Amino acid sequence: MDINQFLADRSRLMRASEIRELLKWVTENVISFGGGMPDPSSFPAKEIIEITRDILTTKAEKALQYGTTGGILELKEELIKFMGKVGIKVDGPENIIITVGSQEALDMIGRLFINPGDCVITESPTYLAALQAFRIYGPRIVGIPMDEEGIRVDVLEDTVRKLINDGGKPKFIYVIPTGQNPTGITMNMERRKELLDIASRYDLLIIEDDPYGYIYFGDGEPPARLKAMDGEGRVIYLSTFSKIAAPGLRLGWVAASKEAIRWFELAKQSIDLHTSTLNQYIAAELLRKGIIEKNIPRIKEIYRTKRDLMLQALSEYMPEGVTWTKPSAGMFIWLTTPEKIDTTAMLEIAIKKYGVAYVPGKSFYPNEDRHNDMRLNFTYPTPEQIFEGIKRLAMAIKEVITQ
Ligand SMILES: Cc1ncc(COP(=O)(O)O)c(C=O)c1O
Repeated sequence: MDINQFLADRSRLMRASEIRELLKWVTENVISFGGGMPDPSSFPAKEIIEITRDILTTKAEKALQYGTTGGILELKEELIKFMGKVGIKVDGPENIIITVGSQEALDMIGRLFINPGDCVITESPTYLAALQAFRIYGPRIVGIPMDEEGIRVDVLEDTVRKLINDGGKPKFIYVIPTGQNPTGITMNMERRKELLDIASRYDLLIIEDDPYGYIYFGDGEPPARLKAMDGEGRVIYLSTFSKIAAPGLRLGWVAASKEAIRWFELAKQSIDLHTSTLNQYIAAELLRKGIIEKNIPRIKEIYRTKRDLMLQALSEYMPEGVTWTKPSAGMFIWLTTPEKIDTTAMLEIAIKKYGVAYVPGKSFYPNEDRHNDMRLNFTYPTPEQIFEGIKRLAMAIKEVITQ
């Protein structure tokens, strides 16, 4: 029987990840910069064991029961304080919904806002799984180029104006302002203000995806969150416990206007009723006991050190003509090779001959045809793997350049 004959049209918009196909050659001897995983030593495992034991001893009847779709009050109240410390003012728990990671929130955004054919705007390149989540709903995705300071707001404004003139006002602008995935770029303050200003003048919605702001490891603090500067309630703010605690908890949250959150709750009801009650209690305790706050400087230090190592290895080994970003946040360095190289085609050689893997840049572009970038993760590999892996990658690049 052929299952394909029964599929909805929508399912055909779900593309199998090209990357997963390519990374199938990765074996034990291959050093992979391809994943997007945190350093496991950053997980507060011992604390989670204790907290879980406590919760199950004192309130198992609540923690193992069904919960409300919006999430448990204890966690929302802790999040209000947590976000308050970075200048995000949230009126009350009705302004928050707890999600199964930010990924669920991205799918709900597609569900709630995108009709087939609607235009949505993203940075270019942008987070691949956001593109995948949105694509299911059939939008036209317009990518806006970036430079080292973030999204090109001049291009953004021109594009918005044109789209509106053509009768296709964008539904939202999706941005990852701090430690962007995949480039590692942090949008500067001026751009942030300009972005909010454009959104206000053209009456647009902004989706601010902020998994990395809390572990910014540059000098000082990161530029203010868009949500912290949002006087008009036009920013829907997403963040997650995946990088400040552990991704296996599958916990994220959305902060937005009460009305927006009510729509998210409606969308979530039919997806999964609510996020794991037990995990929400664990996260509330991690925040209440200050474990997350204590852990954050440690995570920053681990990532700063690994980023420095990768930057050092890159300058030591990479041939002329190769450039890369110098991130102050996030988990990735974005590397650009000379035009001659197609990083998708090179991956097989890199893995099979040199034992190193990365993610080709092509699939991160919503609609540009670029072939000579790659994303390198520096948080998961060990320091030794970082050095050895970059050395191998440089050899692969040199071989392909001279072909
Ligand atoms: C920009 C961005 N958004 C969202 C996510 C999803 O994270 P999670 O679902 O674990 O919260 C990630 C994960 O790497 C990410 O980089």
